[in-house]
Amino acid sequence: MSNCGAQLEFIHAGLVFEDGPERLRALRDLSVTVRPGESVALIGPSGCGKSTTLRLASGMLSPSEGDVLVNGMPVGKPRQETALIPQDLGLLPWKTVLQNAVLGLAIRKVPKDQALQHAKDALSQVGLEGFEAAYPKELSGGMRQRLALARALAMDADLLLMDEPLSAVDALLRESLQDVLLDLWRERGHTQMLVTHSIEEAVYLGERILVFSPRPATLKADIANPHVGEDGWRDSAQFANQCNEVRSALAESAGEATGANPPEPQAAADKKGR
Ligand SMILES: Nc1ncnc2c1ncn2[C@@H]1O[C@H](COP(=O)(O)OP(=O)(O)OP(=O)(O)O)[C@@H](O)[C@H]1O
Ligand SMILES: [Mg+2]
Repeated sequence: MSNCGAQLEFIHAGLVFEDGPERLRALRDLSVTVRPGESVALIGPSGCGKSTTLRLASGMLSPSEGDVLVNGMPVGKPRQETALIPQDLGLLPWKTVLQNAVLGLAIRKVPKDQALQHAKDALSQVGLEGFEAAYPKELSGGMRQRLALARALAMDADLLLMDEPLSAVDALLRESLQDVLLDLWRERGHTQMLVTHSIEEAVYLGERILVFSPRPATLKADIANPHVGEDGWRDSAQFANQCNEVRSALAESAGEATGANPPEPQAAADKKGR
């Protein structure tokens, strides 16, 4: 199974939430192109606007300014070829592990036998075989994350959007699931965008690492990371250097944010610090 990855573009994209008691700007003037088949990691301080950016890419949100395009077309609504692992995982508590894993395929109307086989294969890839009949509440937090990952992998998407998909699994399992993600990405050729708080994870999986400022998110650094996928990458001296570079970019962007920035029209709303 292989896909031609989708191209994802943000063109001067911005997002202001208008539905609360005050306007809240989450993203400002993001211009970035993720090429077909590219793997991009997104890192930035908590609350800066990373999940918002993924939701824009998925079509769950529309930009307040600018454009978000997939394969050159504005993402007006969620597309079937995009798989999103949301931060809250989006599992249905009344469905079993297998039924949850098959959900994305059922929506795409894949024939039932084929869908079940894909879902079972994906569950086994994340180490959840034997739990097909369990319900989400019977799983640990890390197992639930693996189930959400399996559901996305089963979809064989051309654009895989992942919001901190491995944050609740233990360190060793996390590394092995990072390898699963890496292998599948190389095998299938899809485009992926991964939000993570782990600098090491970003450097292990992202051919490019986008560093966001504190809210409202702006793109502070776009760091090339071309050795992703090479043998021994995690243990190399260059890997450690790249981690240091990302760490410095994060620290620099956090430092700038505490400096004297000119006031914005929505500054009062932003001060709410939600
Ligand atoms: N539906 C919404 N309505 C109003 N405000 C929202 C909504 N969703 C997010 N926000 C606000 O937008 C800002 C950015 O949120 P977002 O979830 O994108 O942050 P994040 O970078 O993913 O943070 P974290 O690392 O903690 O997950 C926050 O201040 C949040 O309160
Ligand atoms: Mg988030």
